[in-house]
Amino acid sequence: MKILGIETSCDETAICLIEVDPTDESVRILGNTIHSQVPDHIPYGGVFPILAKREHEKNLPLVLEKTMLEAGAKPDKIDFISVTTGPGLEPALWTGIIFAQALAQKWNKKIVPAHHMEGHILAALIAETNTKNTYRLLESEIAYPALSLLISGGHTQLIHINKLGSYKIAGETRDDAVGECFDKVARTLGLEYPGGPKISKLAAEARAEGIQSPEPLPRPMLTSDDLDFSFSGLKTAVLYLAQKLVAENAGKPLAEKIIKGIAREVEDAVTDVLLAKVRKAIELYGIQSIIVGGGVIANKNIRMHLEQLATECSAKLFIPQIDHSTDNGLMIALTGYFNREKAVDANTTLKAKGTLPLGPRI
Ligand code: KG4
Ligand code: ZN
Repeated sequence: MKILGIETSCDETAICLIEVDPTDESVRILGNTIHSQVPDHIPYGGVFPILAKREHEKNLPLVLEKTMLEAGAKPDKIDFISVTTGPGLEPALWTGIIFAQALAQKWNKKIVPAHHMEGHILAALIAETNTKNTYRLLESEIAYPALSLLISGGHTQLIHINKLGSYKIAGETRDDAVGECFDKVARTLGLEYPGGPKISKLAAEARAEGIQSPEPLPRPMLTSDDLDFSFSGLKTAVLYLAQKLVAENAGKPLAEKIIKGIAREVEDAVTDVLLAKVRKAIELYGIQSIIVGGGVIANKNIRMHLEQLATECSAKLFIPQIDHSTDNGLMIALTGYFNREKAVDANTTLKAKGTLPLGPRI
C-alpha cells in the first residue's frame, strides 16, 4: 500500500511517499523531501503566516517532483493521499489541502485528512531495521494505557490513550507551548529563530563547561495538583533577568557565558516540569507506555531524562528518531495509513482547522 503524505501546517513544506506492508508491518520510505522555510522567517523572528503560505505554494510542486523522482514512482502506483488539515496556521494548511485535492483529482485518488498531532504520535511508532529506509511498525508493542507527551511549537499536551485513534487530553498548557517558550526566550537572549535548537546547543555547552545561570528560574506549576502546564512565566522571568543583567552592566549586551548559563537553566526548568507531570500521569493512570512527539523532543536533555524515567517506572518508551521529531511528511503518510478507512473522494469539501483538538478533555 503506497501513501503520499503532505504536510504544510507551519514552516516546513514536506512530502513523503511510503509503502506499508500490513502483513509484515514494514514501512519503506520511498521518497522523502522536507523544504524548511526557516531562513525566510528569520528576519521576522518567528513564522510569518502569509509568507509561509506563499512559500508553500511555490515549493509544493518542487517538493513533490523531488519526492517522486527519489521514489522512482508513477502516480498510478499510489493508493491514496494524506494531507494535514489541522491544527496549524490556517493559510499554510489551506495550501496543502488545495494541492492535495488537485493532485487527487488529477490522479483519481482518495484523500485522508490527517491530524498533525496524531502524526507526531505515530512518528514515534516506527523503528529502524537493518535495511536502509525500512522501518517496523511498533503498534502491536504498545502496552495500554499509554500516555503521549506532545511537545511542539504550538502544543504541550499529555494525551491518555486506550488504543490508537482514541485520544483524551489529560493535561495541556494554559498559555505558551514549550517550543514557543524556547523560541521566545531565545529571542530575548538575541538568538535566531527557531530558538529551541540553539538553546539546546548552548545548554549542552554550559553543562560541559560547568557554567551556571546567574540566578535560578521558576518551574511554573511544578507541584500543582493537575496535569496542566504554564510556560509564559518562565519566558517573562528570563526577560526580567536579562533586562536586570544588562542594566547592571551599563547597558552592554549579555556576555556569551551568561547566555549559556541562562539557556541551561531554561532547559532544566522545562525538563523538570515536563518530567514531573509525566511522572504524575504515570502514577495517576497506571501508564504502561510513554509515546513522545513534537519538535521539542529533538532536545537531547529531555530525551535522556524521559529514558531514565521510563526505566525507573518500568514503562515502555516510544520516541521518534531526531530527524522525525520536527515536522515532516512521513508522519502524515503514517497518519494516512492508520486512518485509511476515513479516506474521502477528491472532490469532498475539506477544511483547514487552525485549532483542532485531538480528543476531549478527561
Ligand atoms: O513539531 P514542530 O516541528 O512544529 C510544530 O508543530 O510546532 O516543532 C517546532 C518546535 C520549535 O518551537 C522549535 O524551537 C522546537 O520545536 N525545537 C526544539 C529543538 N528542535 C526543535 N526545542 C528544543 N530543543 C531542540 N533541539
Ligand atoms: Zn509539529
